[in-house]
Amino acid sequence: MSNKKRLIVAISGADGIQLAFCLLRLLKDNDEIESHLVISKGAEKALGTLNNIDALKAMADVVYDNEDNRADIASGSYETIGMIVIPCSMKTLSSIRNSYADGLIARAADVCIKEHRCLVLVTRESPLSAIHLDNMAYLARLQNVFIMPPVLTYYTGVNSLKDMEIQIVGRILNKFKIVVTGYQTWNSKNKNLSI
Ligand SMILES: Cc1cc2nc3c(=O)[nH]c(=O)nc-3n(C[C@H](O)[C@H](O)[C@H](O)COP(=O)(O)O)c2cc1C
Repeated sequence: MSNKKRLIVAISGADGIQLAFCLLRLLKDNDEIESHLVISKGAEKALGTLNNIDALKAMADVVYDNEDNRADIASGSYETIGMIVIPCSMKTLSSIRNSYADGLIARAADVCIKEHRCLVLVTRESPLSAIHLDNMAYLARLQNVFIMPPVLTYYTGVNSLKDMEIQIVGRILNKFKIVVTGYQTWNSKNKNLSI
């Protein structure tokens, strides 16, 4: 049996799937983490046009079908360190908020919530409606649930989209105590950082 820590990564059909590529690439290079991937049908449709869904799956250690409600991660008895939904569509957000576990993504998130495991939702939509905000506010009050939209950081002085992705993903993985090379945190003494 592997000593690696299991981390669930779910991808739903919102803009920003490139962030999932960045995250899975970093996890692939991390010897301590075993990634467990689930992709929604919505994401597969959006991704299908880019033709790189196989490349995405190839980076994960374990891949599940979202229809597979008998999968390991559907049970709380299967130990994981938590789950990241990246990007998280408003539809998936709503199913998680309502505990409407019609697919494996919503079920695995439901398990994380009931087991008080870390659950990060990288919600993506603009503008946000009152319904979206209400769903996020509800979930943000639960223990170990973090709503982390892909917010840009300028104080780190990054000058490429790829570097910005590292900042966004680095901050997410920081919630699981996973260190990302190149991810910069604020340090008032560092003259390279400024607002
Ligand atoms: C090009 C494109 C971009 C989309 N971007 C978003 C988005 O950023 N956020 C969102 O909530 N839905 C977005 N959608 C809509 C979702 O894909 C749609 O609601 C889908 O049913 C979500 O299903 P899923 O959550 O099961 O993946 C987008 C759809 C398309 C075609």
